[in-house]
Amino acid sequence: MRTEIEKLRKQIRYHEHKYYIENQPEISDPAFDVLMKQLEALEASDPAPIPPDSPTQRVGGGAELGTRLQHRNPMLSLNNSYDEKDLQAFGERVHRLLEGVPVEYVTELKIDGLGVSLTYENGIFTQGLTRGDGEYGEDVTDNLRTIRSVPLRLIETETTMPSVLEVRGEVFIPKHLLNEINTQREAEGESPFANPRNAAAGSLRLLDASITASRPLDIFVYNLNYAEGFEFATHTESLENMRCWGLKCNPNTDCHKSIEDVQNYYQRWVEKRHELPYETDGVVIKVNQLSQQHELGATSKYPRWAIAYKFDAQQAITTVEKIEVQVGRTGTLTPVAILKPVSVAGATITNATLHNEQEIQTKDIRIGDKIVLERAGDVIPKIVEVLTADRTGDEVVFKFPERCPVCDTPVERTEKEVAVRCVNVSCVAQLKRRIAHYASRDALQIEGLGPATITQLVDKELVHDVADLYALEVEELSKLDRMGVPSASNLVHQIEQSKAAPAEKFLFGLGIFHVGENVAALLIENFLSLDALRKATPQDIESVNGIGPQIAESVSKFFSKNQPLLEKLREAGLHCFTVQAEPAQPQTSKITDSFFSGKTFVVTGSLEGMTRSEASDEIKSRGGKVTSSVTSKTDYLIAGEGAGSKYTKAEELGIPILRGSDFFAKL
Ligand code: IVH
Repeated sequence: MRTEIEKLRKQIRYHEHKYYIENQPEISDPAFDVLMKQLEALEASDPAPIPPDSPTQRVGGGAELGTRLQHRNPMLSLNNSYDEKDLQAFGERVHRLLEGVPVEYVTELKIDGLGVSLTYENGIFTQGLTRGDGEYGEDVTDNLRTIRSVPLRLIETETTMPSVLEVRGEVFIPKHLLNEINTQREAEGESPFANPRNAAAGSLRLLDASITASRPLDIFVYNLNYAEGFEFATHTESLENMRCWGLKCNPNTDCHKSIEDVQNYYQRWVEKRHELPYETDGVVIKVNQLSQQHELGATSKYPRWAIAYKFDAQQAITTVEKIEVQVGRTGTLTPVAILKPVSVAGATITNATLHNEQEIQTKDIRIGDKIVLERAGDVIPKIVEVLTADRTGDEVVFKFPERCPVCDTPVERTEKEVAVRCVNVSCVAQLKRRIAHYASRDALQIEGLGPATITQLVDKELVHDVADLYALEVEELSKLDRMGVPSASNLVHQIEQSKAAPAEKFLFGLGIFHVGENVAALLIENFLSLDALRKATPQDIESVNGIGPQIAESVSKFFSKNQPLLEKLREAGLHCFTVQAEPAQPQTSKITDSFFSGKTFVVTGSLEGMTRSEASDEIKSRGGKVTSSVTSKTDYLIAGEGAGSKYTKAEELGIPILRGSDFFAKL
């Protein structure tokens, strides 16, 4: 079985590399999923501990942020240039400092994301840090592990591999997905990310690694910082080696014999960058010879051997004609500026989200103002500046509504969030959006239930919640605008069919905070039925590998607040309520006299002869609780071989640590 497991791991790593790094998949997604399932099943039935570099070990639950660790050497930023003159000046300075020796330059795209450092020990990914203040970065290892283009294990090449390798790169979110995430964030009452960098940073610094895993983060590695025992002559050579070890480097690099040639590369990308699926905000020019880089050195902030050459932002000037307020699925009130139509970067823009009340106040945006609108590639346009000097005095200060513009309920503000909410769960605006989400393709997939029909159903009070959809009849539906008997009976048929949807689709369709498709699938995989999940405590939910405290709390809160709706759905005959299965989580036993009973444990590292989930089962069967992150509430950390950041955290908090042998003795 072990050889079979190893073979599968190798096969999966190979296909992950083909798919996520080379962008040339050799097998279909379902075929890949089958391999993954096979490996999971074999690993589950093998008593040997699962190594952290197994492809099944990307999501490990609660990430432990906040630990600041010193970089091997400072992670510097880049000095900026904005035109050909600045670039020329950089070339002249390099030339002068190197006393006229010929210099070769490498040009790369400047990826707009978040700089990180990745460390591999003997080919295994062991540590990931953000740039932080350049000297100390934040430990984001658990979250970086969830990025599929970050290999957990490097490819062994003929030149072998350094025992320690530290590389630096940029984590980013592909352009088209940023808009999707922002739409979802607004629906959940969170402010959208203002730019790709914030999106990458926000996603990488989440406490819940499983939420990070559901965000489509990607990486390009741009520099080799340290490779024990290896010496390269040039930056291009180090890039080549990093590629061979399986790291993802951007392919759009060039070499130039003079700084004048660099201008051509820049000009080419001014046009072409819009075709890229990720955001770039300029190009980076680097001296290729590493000995020359060394000679040039760095100031306290920037290397003297590299410079960024920034692209101009795509901007236009227009007028704010009015400000409207929209109500989202969870009641968040989002102000939107309705603009005099204007063309920016090839698209006509008619409105721009203002995100929240605070944004309007901070930027002092008034109705009638002339504003500068910026559109970065495909990203949602934003107002970057108000031209206050152009004000005539006729501009009107926008007063944020004190009542929901749709249902007239007084709005609620909390100190914790900037969002202003309509707390009336029956607010028709929210209801319409909740129904649309429930019927959407990735949820219950009710075809024929579009926005126009939903609006009529809600406005005519035929539907008060998603459960009411199941009581709709052809006769009443056929009376709606643009709905004849054939469409009505088709819709009833579609609604009827949705009763058979799998539990994970239904769970996703309920629109619970933080429960995206992946999380819904993971929960059902572990609890097997909705009823088991409904009965679970936040601790039970959190003990699922891959689920952190935020998700656990959100799910548990939803179920306790929405019992009547769930009962109504059960009565409507949704199949997922009648599936009877034993929950995967063994129920907490009633044993009260064991060492474990009533205590909270975290299990980390590899235990000899027992998987972490078996260890958790043993603890739970003795009345203990198992959670995924070390907090002050943890009673003991059980640390097997290779325990990492959880160990450090437990030490910091003074939490007793049980080594594998101590744990077995207690068992
Ligand atoms: S080289 C000492 N190369 O831009 C070398 N940086 O504004 C410094 N960045 O902090 C970095 N793409 O996070 C380099 N191809 C690239 C890059 C890149 C994006 C980021 C990096 C840096 C920031 C400076």
